[in-house]
Amino acid sequence: MGSDGDATADVIRVRRSGSLQGSVRVAGAKNSALKLMAAVVLAPGRHTLRNVPRIADVTLMAELLERMGARVTRGTDEPDVVTIEVPDEMVPEAPYDLVEKMRASIVVLGPLLARFGEARVSVPGGDDFGHRPIDMHLRALEELGATFTTSHGVIEGRAERLLGTRILLEYPSVGATENLLMAAVTAKGTTVIDNAAREPEIEDLAAFLVGMGADVSGAGGSTITIEGVERLHPVEHTVVPDRIEAATYLAAVGLAGGSIAIEGARADHMEMLLDKLGAMGLRVDDGGDRLWVTAPERPGRLTSVDVATLPYPGVATDYKPLLVALLSVADGVGILTENVFAGRFRYIPELVRMGADIRVEGHHAVVRGVETLSGAPVRAPDIRAGAALVVAGLAAEGETLVADAHHVARGYQDLVGNLARLGADVALVPGVGGG
Ligand code: EPU
Repeated sequence: MGSDGDATADVIRVRRSGSLQGSVRVAGAKNSALKLMAAVVLAPGRHTLRNVPRIADVTLMAELLERMGARVTRGTDEPDVVTIEVPDEMVPEAPYDLVEKMRASIVVLGPLLARFGEARVSVPGGDDFGHRPIDMHLRALEELGATFTTSHGVIEGRAERLLGTRILLEYPSVGATENLLMAAVTAKGTTVIDNAAREPEIEDLAAFLVGMGADVSGAGGSTITIEGVERLHPVEHTVVPDRIEAATYLAAVGLAGGSIAIEGARADHMEMLLDKLGAMGLRVDDGGDRLWVTAPERPGRLTSVDVATLPYPGVATDYKPLLVALLSVADGVGILTENVFAGRFRYIPELVRMGADIRVEGHHAVVRGVETLSGAPVRAPDIRAGAALVVAGLAAEGETLVADAHHVARGYQDLVGNLARLGADVALVPGVGGG
């Protein structure tokens, strides 16, 4: 498959923009598409995925599948459709050069063990938000009967035949739940996952597996029950919409003002966030398969709130940089508490460069809203933080240059084009430095 996501232009230039108007469509969820692409390994044959975002991480996952022996093609007339031909034999391996670029590669561990009884996956290193262990993935797979050894930076897993059992996760980890779910679908007997992650992307993965012939119930709740089946078959499936991308346009309106429709966004996947944004003064109406969002009339400002990130259905950690950007110009003081990734604060010094008044104390960010931000050269430390700096630039006097914009391309199909079509003054420019 070719490459997607604009990784060549590495700086996004944003200027203060007037009210946003019009409509924008969200793409399929990155954090679902990547897992569904891993799950195809479970059944040989031709799988079809619709609504697959054209982003750099999907290109990396396609490359990983191709190195394992699959053929991945994106439709020319229908570019959001990806077909994957899974062969009978595969190389059950995720090499370091890909795991290092994309941590989500580790979700091939469960499906490879289930299908081939062996898997070699490089140990992921730290990343932009610090040390991210995979101990829970390994312990849970061990409970199904897998064994692991690690040497020379590679985890080697083996399993004769996985055996269903009850597994209590000590924390509802998204990745551990996914690996376990994919490993359990062809295990012998019944697997019960307690304290499972409940994110909409987990429900999407379960629906995908059921489409392949698996017997999964309870996904979306804390207890998932899987009755192992002998074999699975190829599937056709549409990826759930990206709630984090939808939140990015909500935040853009909160910062620039205006009123837009976000097509494809699902209010039922974002309830806690919508409650918080409502309390801040953004008006959001649920139009079924779209959201309508309207900012207060200028010069009215949003009002500060306190927010704590939590596993779903709590406010997602991925929304946090967007919320910090909104609180930066809201009226009052808001305290944002990070409960998921302790080190996920690296974008805060960048917002401070733009004039935000933020103090970090442990895992809390105390944000005192200022009247206005001022444009500055900044650097995107990761996907979501990069997007937050771009939307913060919409409310900043003058010009903001967001360097390392390749992070944004990892997770957004066309953030710049979509914001520009809503009336924002934003463009990709050739790498001129910044930060
Ligand atoms: N954790 C462990 N041990 C484990 C697994 C997780 O200690 O074995 C800890 C993590 O270090 C973290 C917490 O548990 O402190 C939550 O991690 P989780 O496993 O739930 O997250 P993940 O599967 O690694 C996914 C998304 C992230 C999103 C989190 C939380 C993908 C590819 N990534 O990560 O999204 O922030 O869930 O919702 O699905 C992004 O899209 O930019 C992104 C980072």
